[in-house]
Amino acid sequence: MAPNVDPYDREITYLRVSVTDRCNLRCLYCKPVQDLKLLDRASILSYEEILKTIRAATGLGMKKIRLTGGEPLLRRNFVHFVESVCRIPEVEDVSVTTNGLLLEKMARPLFEAGVRRINISLDTLNPLKYTKITRREGFDAVWKGLQVAEAVGFSPIKVNIVAIRGLNDDELLQFAGLSVRKPYHIRFIEYMPIGRDSNWTPEKYISSDEIRSELETLGPLHKIPHSIHDGPAERYRFESAKGEIGFISPLSHHFCPSCNRLRLTADGKVRPCLFADDEVDIKTPLRNGCSQKDLREVFQQAIASKPRRHHAEILEKGEGLRSMSTIGG
Ligand code: 5AD
Ligand code: SF4
Repeated sequence: MAPNVDPYDREITYLRVSVTDRCNLRCLYCKPVQDLKLLDRASILSYEEILKTIRAATGLGMKKIRLTGGEPLLRRNFVHFVESVCRIPEVEDVSVTTNGLLLEKMARPLFEAGVRRINISLDTLNPLKYTKITRREGFDAVWKGLQVAEAVGFSPIKVNIVAIRGLNDDELLQFAGLSVRKPYHIRFIEYMPIGRDSNWTPEKYISSDEIRSELETLGPLHKIPHSIHDGPAERYRFESAKGEIGFISPLSHHFCPSCNRLRLTADGKVRPCLFADDEVDIKTPLRNGCSQKDLREVFQQAIASKPRRHHAEILEKGEGLRSMSTIGG
């Protein structure tokens, strides 16, 4: 069996790397307003350590790297680091997930560093509501960042929306319209009860099926065949639209059978599954000066312990899970 195939025959080709747990927003489904517990700096992997880890992952056959956070653009010298990731020959694809606040200035340097694909989290098109959701000012900055990213040539530009009843469910059609006018991939993510501070309740959850039915009042949605870059997203397009619609349904559809990923947390843990707090420590071996072979073994251990699927029961107990900002979405 190839070293990157797990016990359920899934080929693990994708590593999501959280470079920091710091964030310049306080989204109400992610962060507490007070008592924000941040990792101390010494426990966060250095860029050198992350690069060594990524090289070990590519040695096992992982080819796609996504850099995330917290907010990755906040970390010092991030662009330089991105350049180094893009230069690893086995890495075929490097993408970044950001909240977009710093993108106006950073889009061009990131593009020049070699990134082509970017995901921007933006849950509302209304500046006042933006402040309510993120507890910070910033809608205009994100909007400008999005325009600069488009002008510079990023493609695709994905806009991630966490759909929350009573909060942004009145904007679903507006977002859908954006996918018609702009070449953006508008992706609706089901609200997940993940992390102590997710504020999740069953009433606030909206399923992808419900969103799709609502969007179809605008016109038929045509299904786009699945490609390797899609991950768990189901893709659709409105007639003559410049962009696309995507649905990411961690709760209503089990995408676990096609899971192709591992996560590296900012504090150096390899996490086999978003929904399970079992992690394999890679920081200690890294800091003990271990070899690439030892690091590959850590990855193999994580691959071997990937659960077959997550269970709704686990999600209901999601309160215990680490927040997205430390595990990197
Ligand atoms: N449910 C769904 N999506 C979430 N994200 C963060 N927390 C949650 C949650 N509780 C999303 C962010 C970002 C991505 C990395 O994860 O909005 O788009
Ligand atoms: Fe920051 Fe992303 Fe969490 Fe919002 S969801 S607080 S942008 S890490």
